[in-house]
Amino acid sequence: MKQLSPAQIVLMKKAGEITKNALLYAETLVKPGVTTNSLDNLISEYIINHGGKPCFKGYNGFPKSTCISVNEVVVHGIPSQRKLKEGDIVSIDIGVEYKGFHGDAARTFPVGKISEEKQKLIDVTKQSFFEGIKFLKAGEKLGKVSSAIQKYAESFGYGVVREMTGHGIGEKLHLNPSVPNYGKESDGPIVQANTCLAIEPMINMGTRRIFILEDGWTTITQDLLPSAHYENTVLILDDRIEILTL
Ligand code: MF3
Ligand code: CO
Repeated sequence: MKQLSPAQIVLMKKAGEITKNALLYAETLVKPGVTTNSLDNLISEYIINHGGKPCFKGYNGFPKSTCISVNEVVVHGIPSQRKLKEGDIVSIDIGVEYKGFHGDAARTFPVGKISEEKQKLIDVTKQSFFEGIKFLKAGEKLGKVSSAIQKYAESFGYGVVREMTGHGIGEKLHLNPSVPNYGKESDGPIVQANTCLAIEPMINMGTRRIFILEDGWTTITQDLLPSAHYENTVLILDDRIEILTL
């Protein structure tokens, strides 16, 4: 866990700000009839116009700039000709590089009017992030964050995805440590000041079990029930934390 210098923290904040604004822009584009490709193109253009680089493109061969995951797609949905339709939920995950530093954040949005049960899944997934970061503090065990996310989400009967986790972030998109959304309070490393973590609960309405499609990316729920994702890049300082993408 390499610590960031004050100058590097400034760059992380800028990367986070572009990521946050790109998500706010993305939200304005989500409506029935738009293709996930058109969202990807517009968001990519937005990031570039604001001085960033969409850093998912080409990462381990990922073909597009953003991950767009509809309904039963948990994460890593590849933008395509698929059109959003009323009642869908769509998770948009955005990564931005700015002068060598990274921001990473995701939200799940409703498409038009959605069912109450889908809205509850979105709300609980978001709240599970906030329940987790109540315990995020320099000098404390990271497992406290993971455990709080799991307890909150499971109290609604939801499935907490195990195979994918949050992560350290900074000079690379993915750094140590990994940040599971489950586990014991005593698990994991001690959180270090002047580092950043991407914390990203992926919560399924039904089973936690997932399946990866032939394309090697698209991750779906085994029971095909919907899934939601909520992610922010968070800066940990000596005496407080700052959410850089909110
Ligand atoms: N937010 C996701 C992550 O942190 C997205 C990565 S997608 C990839 O893992 F295309 F960059 F791999
Ligand atoms: Co991430």
